[in-house]
Amino acid sequence: MFTIKDHLEISDDHLIIGGVDTVSLAEEFGTPLYITNESRVIGNFSAYRKAFPDADIYYAAKANGSFAILRMLAREGAGADVFSYGELYMALLAGIPREKILFNGNSKTDFELQKAVDIGVKVSVDSLDELHTLSNLAQGAGKKVEIAFRVNPDVSPKTHPKISTGLRSSKFGIPSEEVVSAYREASRLPGISPCGIHCHIGSQILETTSFTEATHKMMDLVEKVTDIGIDLKFVDMGSGLGIPYKKDEGPAPTPKDHANAIVPIFKEKTKALGISPKLILEPGRFIVADTTILLARVNTVKKAAKNFVGVDAGFNLLVRPTMYDSYHYAVVANKASSPAEETYTIVGPICETGDIFAKDRTLPCIEKGDIIALLDAGAYGFSMSSQYNGRPRCAEVLVKDGKADIIRTREDVQDLMGRQTLPARLM
Ligand code: LLP
Repeated sequence: MFTIKDHLEISDDHLIIGGVDTVSLAEEFGTPLYITNESRVIGNFSAYRKAFPDADIYYAAKANGSFAILRMLAREGAGADVFSYGELYMALLAGIPREKILFNGNSKTDFELQKAVDIGVKVSVDSLDELHTLSNLAQGAGKKVEIAFRVNPDVSPKTHPKISTGLRSSKFGIPSEEVVSAYREASRLPGISPCGIHCHIGSQILETTSFTEATHKMMDLVEKVTDIGIDLKFVDMGSGLGIPYKKDEGPAPTPKDHANAIVPIFKEKTKALGISPKLILEPGRFIVADTTILLARVNTVKKAAKNFVGVDAGFNLLVRPTMYDSYHYAVVANKASSPAEETYTIVGPICETGDIFAKDRTLPCIEKGDIIALLDAGAYGFSMSSQYNGRPRCAEVLVKDGKADIIRTREDVQDLMGRQTLPARLM
């Protein structure tokens, strides 16, 4: 038995996750199949909590909203960053207390804002328009809603442009120079209690200087907002810590590095101002990305311009490589320690040229029936899946200490009908 990528092992040429042979899992549950290692999720969450002992960790539910994962994190004491009523509903159902939930979003519906008022969660307000709607709804319900403003700090996080969220040109947040007047406005409104400040600069960030820059900018705003008499109870710095999808990108910063980039600046400023807001972090990717693999079975091997390996999962199940050109290690799960012999490009069955999981990888000789494991598929994997090309979504399995439990059953073609109906003339 030896280890690849931390919690993944190889035994008898087979890839093992959480003490379970992935080849047997493929036989038992079929493919494609998402497999998550429970202990790894808990370990990653604990690492964050340890790095930020005085902060609250609000797990970003969008990264992986599977109920079993929300449930295990709820039991560990996580809060949640939710970006829709759907995520709020699931977080509450999983047992995350409403006091530890922040309702984020740049274009919330009135229905969603009403739900936030009725349930009593904090809201991160993204515009003055939203502020006024929320105040009216809260007033109508005879309540006051605790809010933070989502700040656009204009920081470049040196990541993929599609996942940079704090650039001046980004759709998220209120420009820094308008933030103080937004708090002034909020403090005049009857339904609003301004008590927090929030930013999130992007995702898959592999250097910490942008976290430091954002913290300086945010703490300057904390000072200005405090100066106008706002009593800030929390400062939410979002998250965005990247993971080492690819070894040659060098070592990725750890939660401790993330904390070193933020906490000293936060502490120094709050001490100088004589205030004691709670620090909040919203990690998603770091908690779940490396906990999960996607297994797919080889349907065909074809020698053409390249050596194409066609598997039974497509970008409907893992869209990241197609959408962000992201890299995921591919392992031949039933030949995991066999010598690498050939260069292959692993593709899905979707009717699009971009349906490519892995380009030009040197791997053991691949044949029909082999099983490919795509690693680090736990964040923005299943949560971004679809039924595109008439493909039912796959099952999910949770493994722990050598045992496997199904946490989501496989869809079948009846699920493609879903809630569709026909007008009478088409009956
Ligand atoms: N907080 C807010 C307000 C966010 O918008 C996000 C992610 C997070 C926290 C969590 O960030 P993380 O720790 O996971 O980096 N689908 C893309 C990533 C989109 C991220 C969206 N926002 C991907 O697959 O790379």
